[in-house]
Amino acid sequence: MPKKKVLVLNGPNLNLLHKRDKEIYGDSSLSKIAGECKKLAKELDLEVAFQQSNSEGEIVTFIQDAIEHFDAIIINAAAYTHTSIAIRDALEMFDKPKIELHISNVFKREEFRNRSLLSDVVTAVISGLGVDGYSISLLAINNLIDCK
Ligand code: DQA
Repeated sequence: MPKKKVLVLNGPNLNLLHKRDKEIYGDSSLSKIAGECKKLAKELDLEVAFQQSNSEGEIVTFIQDAIEHFDAIIINAAAYTHTSIAIRDALEMFDKPKIELHISNVFKREEFRNRSLLSDVVTAVISGLGVDGYSISLLAINNLIDCK
């Protein structure tokens, strides 16, 4: 059987994760996280594509392409979580398991981060587990794919 494919999609400023507030985001880098995800994916017999973009339109295009080519999406849309109707609309069309992920607990931070435009169009939300959230999301998505 062909491997199930998972898109791990990261939004703006996550390319510079290692330069962000360590109290909030820890001291990992996105490339380190990508490496850990690839390693875990191998153990789970999944294929993972790890992407990052600072551009809202590019993120929309990644999601649109995933409709045909991926079995699940894990998305940390970063600041676009709180503003992007376009990313929400694209995710709504993706009719397979999808997890909204945040490194920090967005509900414990500024009020403008308490609102997500994505939460009610995804399968689940993981927020506040630090960078471990990526591995945990991958484990969860593996179970969700199996349930389908
Ligand atoms: C974030 C939380 C967002 O509010 C913020 O804009 C980010 C990262 C997180 O992973 O905790 O850039 O999505």
